[in-house]
Amino acid sequence: MSESLATVSYIGAIILFILSLGGLSNPESSRRGNLYGMIGMTIAVLATVFGPRVGMAGIPWIIGAMVVGGSIGLYAARKVQMTQMPELVAMMHSLVGLAACLVGFANYIDPMATMSLSGAEKAIHEIEVYLGILIGAVTFSGSLIAFGKLAGKIGGKPLLLPGRHFLNLIGLLIVIVFGWQFLHAETISAGMFALTVMTVIALLFGMHMVLAIGGADMPVVVSMLNSYSGWAAAATGFMLNNDLLIVVGALVGSSGAILSYIMCRAMNRNFISVIAGGFGTGGGKPAQKADGDAQPAGEVISISAVDTAELLREAKSVIIVPGYGMAVAQAQHTVFEITQVLREKGVNVRFGIHPVAGRMPGHMNVLLAEAKVPYDIVMEMDEINADFPDTDVAIVIGANDIVNPAAQDVPDSPIAGMPVLEVWKAKTSIMMKRGMATGYAGVDNPLFYKENNRMLFGDAKKMLDEVLTALKA
Ligand code: TAP
Repeated sequence: MSESLATVSYIGAIILFILSLGGLSNPESSRRGNLYGMIGMTIAVLATVFGPRVGMAGIPWIIGAMVVGGSIGLYAARKVQMTQMPELVAMMHSLVGLAACLVGFANYIDPMATMSLSGAEKAIHEIEVYLGILIGAVTFSGSLIAFGKLAGKIGGKPLLLPGRHFLNLIGLLIVIVFGWQFLHAETISAGMFALTVMTVIALLFGMHMVLAIGGADMPVVVSMLNSYSGWAAAATGFMLNNDLLIVVGALVGSSGAILSYIMCRAMNRNFISVIAGGFGTGGGKPAQKADGDAQPAGEVISISAVDTAELLREAKSVIIVPGYGMAVAQAQHTVFEITQVLREKGVNVRFGIHPVAGRMPGHMNVLLAEAKVPYDIVMEMDEINADFPDTDVAIVIGANDIVNPAAQDVPDSPIAGMPVLEVWKAKTSIMMKRGMATGYAGVDNPLFYKENNRMLFGDAKKMLDEVLTALKA
């Protein structure tokens, strides 16, 4: 393939990637967005493999690597559960970081890469190598720890070392000093020494940064690491003089940063305080009194599936709030069947979606779209929150943190200030969950004990099947 054809292909791929990002911003256009992305990536890979830079001798190596990598990716994508998606994404980010490190080291010791460079050009290239490895190493180790935390292999509690900000500052100073030494290194081995020291510091920093962040802030961390992986790819693009990689890396880097900002806003968290760490616990404990007494914090009123069906049948308006438990139970199809039955009876049924419901951005939208719930009854939190006081029944399916009134009422709660769906303002709210466990943030939920709240205990799919049977009876 000639240089000019490769350049045109790269431009075509870049346009498709931009269209892809645009498509992914809305559930209705997301399929099209994915398709653009797939076509763009196919063009990019073909133009790279058969482009002017790869000689004939290199092609079998690249194809061999693609077969191995592609098979692993295909296997992982087929095996992964929807609820394990954030772990998979974190693992993929770590690979981007690792690739940036390896390319950086290879580039530095490859005499061909710098042969024609001297003076300022050489210095700029070395800065690209140094920064590329730095960002890559932070992304690699940080993403591995994020994977461990999300998969439950490492505890969700933040690790707060004494003087941790001071340790980070020392790390930063060492990176700057060795960066200066790297730029002035007389020999390759002196440069390699500086690079290696910086890489070790960057790996430790990545681990330390994510270990200090509590479970409740992990969604922001994953999207932040997504952004880092984009910048690592862009840095690799600079090292390899590959315009496509630079643009794609910048697209991923900036869209990840925007997503992190949107998520911080949805959780009422300040981005800097997320990175500084220390918020959130492992979660999954039963609700307790504030003094730590293992007693429940009040009386709850249970309800049966049959009585739930009765309440729904008599309601004029119903808002369904899905959360992580709906994903675990795979209850979305039954939810839709119930919605159809109620709508046929003239009940106004809508869905209220919190921006961080579930375990990844858009998690609930994806599940509801899979179950073919019409988009026009799926509302964002801001669109529906004001309607709860005029709603007869708000039914919460496997959600917890996103409907926790403590975010508004308890100033020292770890989730204080996080915007939540105000289900308790409906005439009756029904919480559907298996027991009294807390949600992801590990924070007690006073909603359980409210007078107008009912608890429908059990697996969401099983209970909804019972509700559906009762509704149809
Ligand atoms: P959570 O607060 O995690 O609550 C989920 C609830 O579902 C749990 O309390 C659990 O209670 C219940 N549950 C689990 N399996 C169930 C099943 N099979 N049937 C019925 N109930 C089941 O979820 P949420 O309200 O969706 O809030 C999301 C949380 O995750 C937020 O704290 C958010 O910050 C965090 N997070 C979000 C993301 C993104 S980007 N969305 C990513 C990572 C973390 P029982 O065990 O008692 O059943």
